[in-house]
Amino acid sequence: MATAAESVATPARTEAAHRTSLTGWILRALVSAHVVAILGQPVFAGVYLSGDYDGLGWHAAGANAVTSIGYLQVIAAIMVWIRLRQVGPFLATMAVVAAETVQYFAGMSGALWLHIPLGVMTVVAVVVQFIAVWRRPLQRRPAEQKDTEDA
Ligand code: HEM
Repeated sequence: MATAAESVATPARTEAAHRTSLTGWILRALVSAHVVAILGQPVFAGVYLSGDYDGLGWHAAGANAVTSIGYLQVIAAIMVWIRLRQVGPFLATMAVVAAETVQYFAGMSGALWLHIPLGVMTVVAVVVQFIAVWRRPLQRRPAEQKDTEDA
């Protein structure tokens, strides 16, 4: 049964639990910048393929922005893993960053058979990650409690 002190403390704790921490906000900011940067890539590629050579320069600059933001996102995702005890954003970020690194070298070597399908998949993955980080608060997961009842 809940004590009087616990009943008073519960609403405040529940409200706090629904707030996103600073670490969570940093991850959200980076994922948001990441989605904006990566959405430009097919557009710039399209400009280039339409015959405007400047599009390739913008696409190359976009590639540097996308991969740099991705690497910063790895650091933020490690912080979320350590501070909020959530490994999911780290695993998703590592998958995206690995795909973007392959994507970068496929673009440089002109391997369009790989670059274009992987590019589409990477854009979709970052959009899904964007939805995932904004859908619910990024809060600290409670530590697993030891099951003392079996003892
Ligand atoms: C749907 C998404 C994408 C499409 C359709 C696309 C398409 C293209 C095309 C058509 C080229 C020109 C290749 C050539 O002329 O041989 C290119 C080059 C390139 N792409 Fe992408 N790309 C996409 C996403 C990305 C992403 C996400 C990155 C970075 C992670 C990237 C990095 C590069 C690089 C570094 C080049 C070489 C640029 C240069 O030669 O200066 N691309 N891409």
